[in-house]
Amino acid sequence: MDPAFGLGYLAHNAKEEIYMSAHGTPVPMTSRKSGPLSGEANVPGDKSISHRSLILGAMAVGNTKIHGLLEGRDVMDTAKAMRAFGATVTDHGDAHWTVQGVGVGGFCEPEDVIDCGNSGTGVRLIIGAMATHAITATFTGDASLNGRPMARVTDPIALFGATAHGRTGGRLPMTIIGAKDPVPVQYRVPMPSAQVKSAVLLAGLNAPGETVVIEKEATRDHTERMLKGFGADIKVEDTDEGRVITLKGYPELAPQTIVVPRDPSSAAFPVCAALICAGSDVLVPNIGLNPTRAGLFATLRDMGADLTYENERIEGGEPVADLRARFSPDMKGIKVPSERAASMIDEYPVLSVVASFAQGQTVMRGVKELRVKESDRIDAMATGLRANGMSVEDGEDWWIVDGRGISDVPGGGHCETHLDHRIAMSFMILGMGSNEPVRIDDGGPIVTSFPIFEDLMAQLGASITRDDR
Ligand code: S3P
Repeated sequence: MDPAFGLGYLAHNAKEEIYMSAHGTPVPMTSRKSGPLSGEANVPGDKSISHRSLILGAMAVGNTKIHGLLEGRDVMDTAKAMRAFGATVTDHGDAHWTVQGVGVGGFCEPEDVIDCGNSGTGVRLIIGAMATHAITATFTGDASLNGRPMARVTDPIALFGATAHGRTGGRLPMTIIGAKDPVPVQYRVPMPSAQVKSAVLLAGLNAPGETVVIEKEATRDHTERMLKGFGADIKVEDTDEGRVITLKGYPELAPQTIVVPRDPSSAAFPVCAALICAGSDVLVPNIGLNPTRAGLFATLRDMGADLTYENERIEGGEPVADLRARFSPDMKGIKVPSERAASMIDEYPVLSVVASFAQGQTVMRGVKELRVKESDRIDAMATGLRANGMSVEDGEDWWIVDGRGISDVPGGGHCETHLDHRIAMSFMILGMGSNEPVRIDDGGPIVTSFPIFEDLMAQLGASITRDDR
């Protein structure tokens, strides 16, 4: 097995070295008609919660224990960054980590540039967290991250008193000079973005008074829930203007023991594969169904997918279930409600794959944010689906996939993944159901969020291979 994809057998320190060297050499891959898929898919920890566990752990006073941390490259980059700001982050093996935090206001100035790799969540949350410290830090990333808009976080941190010097268009590499005497801020988030909301809240921790964030549409609320868990004084109200979040500055955050739930965004891949591969019956246990994250599963059920929630329960204050997905030959295209977009924003690429195997059109609107993810995800998916014989229309904030039914997706195309893990995995799912194999230019980025993707899919019965084998 290539070390970049399955790291369980490596010594802990070697793990992070491998992730560092995983940038670079492309990993072309091919996926072929597969199935029936069967068995259990134990997907890794939630990426959003993993980043936040490390960052909030670093801002608490004392030792935070994290179980089930996602050991994907994005999260490893955040772990390195927290060390650079002064926290002690230790890998104890088996996805058990500890963070010895420096307390709110305790970040020290990093000695070197902070490389956040491919991770928009990592860089935006960390910029927020350091922006109200009297320190300077320079951030960079890979070609994908360095092309993504950062004004969405540098605008609000300027209100606290921080300044940013980046490349044209507010791009990384970028130096942030943190506010010496931060002031509290009231900020209306202009786009549906949990990263921006979280950056402002993290900056507000080290500012006096109350920081208020208003979001029109509810986005994932892990930061709010976790801040409360760490002991911050935070209040969330649903009003006519949207969700109003009020945070009192200068809390003493108390270290926590965090059990990271499994990632619904990773669960999406084995679930969707089972729906399109004949005879499949797959169980994906322990998946968080927080309503701000579970939009894909509701949408698949609306399309007629045989997807059931078993053993529904509450764990750590979050709704959790085991998902059972079975082959679903009679799915129909639907109009996906645009108010659901924020709760499934990372899942549109793989939804467009399932939509190809449904009858009729699947219409996705209100999804402009997809254009500024790790890649322009509407363009990347539309181009790749067309290369595989599908008909796709798209505009600035919408796209429509013309489904061909379960047995009539041609395949045979070669797709570019644009350094985007979810594009790579989505096209590998496409090839499992299409009539001809589907190839991608580079599966390397899969390690950012789902390092065991290849092994896990192979165990279920998928035929996904690397072209260099
Ligand atoms: C994330 C928020 C979303 C999502 C990303 C993770 C987070 O981004 O796409 O994968 O953990 O806050 P936006 O905040 O830009 O919508």
